[in-house]
Amino acid sequence: MTSTRAAGTARGFATQQLHGGAREASVPTPRAQPIYLTAGFVLDDFDQAEQLFAGGDGYSYTRVANPTNEAVERRIAALEGGAEALLVGSGQAAVVVALLGLVQAGEHIVSASSIYEGTRGLLLENLPRLGIETDFVAEANDPAAWERLIRPTTRALFAESIPNPKNDILDIAAIAQVAHAHGIPLVIDNTLATPYLLRPIEHGADIVVHSASKFLAGHGSVLGGVIVDDGLFDAERDGHLFPHFTAPGGRARIAYFREAIALRFGPTASPLNAFLINQGIETLSLRVERQSQNALGVARWLEQQPEVHSVDYSGLESNPFHALAQRYLPAGQGSVFSFTLRGGLDAARRFVNALDVFTHMTHLGDVRSLVLHPASTSHNLRTDEQLSQAGIWPGTLRVSIGIEDLADLISDLDAGLAAVREII
Ligand SMILES: Cc1ncc(COP(=O)(O)O)c(C=O)c1O
Repeated sequence: MTSTRAAGTARGFATQQLHGGAREASVPTPRAQPIYLTAGFVLDDFDQAEQLFAGGDGYSYTRVANPTNEAVERRIAALEGGAEALLVGSGQAAVVVALLGLVQAGEHIVSASSIYEGTRGLLLENLPRLGIETDFVAEANDPAAWERLIRPTTRALFAESIPNPKNDILDIAAIAQVAHAHGIPLVIDNTLATPYLLRPIEHGADIVVHSASKFLAGHGSVLGGVIVDDGLFDAERDGHLFPHFTAPGGRARIAYFREAIALRFGPTASPLNAFLINQGIETLSLRVERQSQNALGVARWLEQQPEVHSVDYSGLESNPFHALAQRYLPAGQGSVFSFTLRGGLDAARRFVNALDVFTHMTHLGDVRSLVLHPASTSHNLRTDEQLSQAGIWPGTLRVSIGIEDLADLISDLDAGLAAVREII
């Protein structure tokens, strides 16, 4: 074994390449959020380590806490009007951590049926294997329909504020009332609305989850997820339903999500991704405002086209959710919606293949406009009957409208419709 000496030092080269120049005398304050890309943190001394592991303040390991991730957590909590947030590795992880923190084997969830297909799969296939059952509400804005499905073992109500992909807006306040009458939390996935358009906690939701991969990050480059808690858990009133929430004060719920679920199941977000999400959030309002304006323009145009059978966008006066959208989403109805072509599957295929500005992919909330055919992709495990129950037809397409020039989007869609015209 050779031990090469590094120039000007008593230590060997290998040691120096690890430790040389490591400690800086003083660190300037960077304007951008620093990226603490490190698995863990140096423990100051023996006693500090002991205090830290006994629950004291400080940093030990990135799965427990990381300053870059915390910066995003504080920012999203502030934007959502929540008390505290927890950043995890994906939106799916956020949904899983929140639900596993609330519900255990033998207990029950009631969920809206118009939700992201990945969450539906989790509720239908994965959670039952852990002994957690879910009932689905088709009429999500009918409080009595939720009430009918609540059991003594129900521990969470779940819905999306702007459901993916149908844009069938939820009456959050009405469903929150049902939840609170039973002492259970309403969990709202606010991914498609973002806190710029809608803050569910202001309407009575207790917990908000996001896929930060979408509008929060905004540029389609990273995955992330976040859980926001309102910090109002009332142990005296509801503690008998959730005896595992033992931390003191209203933040007992998020403390459990953080310290018992995320810490041990381990869906940690990379600090590098946290940085990119943080940077994305800095332009959230500008992007979402423009995306909503573009989406309304596209929806209005599509509605006029003879090749289009229907458009599911709550910003349209003709949409059955328009009044609710005006109440909950006065600043814009978001960028994601579906529409259905005449001519079924063949029309959808021709349409998608003729697009150029729109990117064909399974993602949303990007600055670029995206398109997907749910029946043959995200929803391909559903039967025809389940698809029609969800309002997803062979000619249905989901779009996520970006920040491009509206005229270019419309001319691209027009090229798609020209390809459809040949067969209908
Ligand atoms: C509404 C909604 N929630 C959650 C998710 C899952 O997020 P992720 O892809 O970041 O895991 C998605 C993904 O499309 C979504 O649309």
